[in-house]
Amino acid sequence: MPVEHVVDRLDVDLIKNRSSRLAGRDLRLFDEVASTNGILRELARAGAREGTTVLAEAQTMGRGRLGKTWFSPPGVNLYASVLFRPALAPSAVPLFSFIGSLAVVDAIEREGVDAAIKWPNDVLVDRKKVAGILIESATSGGTVRYVILGVGVNLNVGREALRSALGDEAHAAGSLSEVARHEIDRNAFAATFLDALEKWATVYAEGGADAVLAAWRDHDITGGRRVEVRDADERYEGRALGVDREGALVVKDPRGRRRRVLTGEIRLLD
Ligand code: BTN
Repeated sequence: MPVEHVVDRLDVDLIKNRSSRLAGRDLRLFDEVASTNGILRELARAGAREGTTVLAEAQTMGRGRLGKTWFSPPGVNLYASVLFRPALAPSAVPLFSFIGSLAVVDAIEREGVDAAIKWPNDVLVDRKKVAGILIESATSGGTVRYVILGVGVNLNVGREALRSALGDEAHAAGSLSEVARHEIDRNAFAATFLDALEKWATVYAEGGADAVLAAWRDHDITGGRRVEVRDADERYEGRALGVDREGALVVKDPRGRRRRVLTGEIRLLD
């Protein structure tokens, strides 16, 4: 008799059971949403408490950095948004995306696979991007009201699906299962990721930017490399010197000037 291939569905109880830190956490799972960040923003505005987490099997309008879309097919990957209400100055918000990539790296390494980070927070496996972080925040009167940390991780999406959705850009994208050579248990991965995120949030709260950046630099593949920068309307090449305490990439341009890149995009040239 043929054995049916059962795809694991996300399950809040399974995620909590596999976690050491999520008891009592408000985890909300949806079949399909436009964007988990969008749902969580509504909840945050309505007063949701820190730690509230939105997960979805699929997103119809998953959002990426710089106005891009995030390919979010159903049933195969992780799309999650987590709410923080940190006592931080607005200038300290960008570093939240750094704790997101560190938590993704921890969860990937738990699968026995090495991961690297390309500035700002693209997580790469075998030089292909498998995960990205999108931070959205609200501030008022110089204080941060909330930070939403959204993460998308390609776990089991197949090469064909990437090719048909991303076209020419598919060569730069990957899926963890391709490299791990086994299907990734999404509930276990989600639990490990959320536990690790809580750990790194504590590191940030207690150790500050320096503690986060020290760990981030251990995985960074950008520092010291020649890069092409696309920032607002500008495009230039230079040498990446590293990140500063606010998470900006410092690049030495061809005229020897040091330039800070905070919201742009880079391409590695060597
Ligand atoms: C990037 O461009 O690298 C960031 C991608 C972030 C995608 C995630 S998926 C879950 C959350 N909801 C969204 O709409 N975007 C983020």
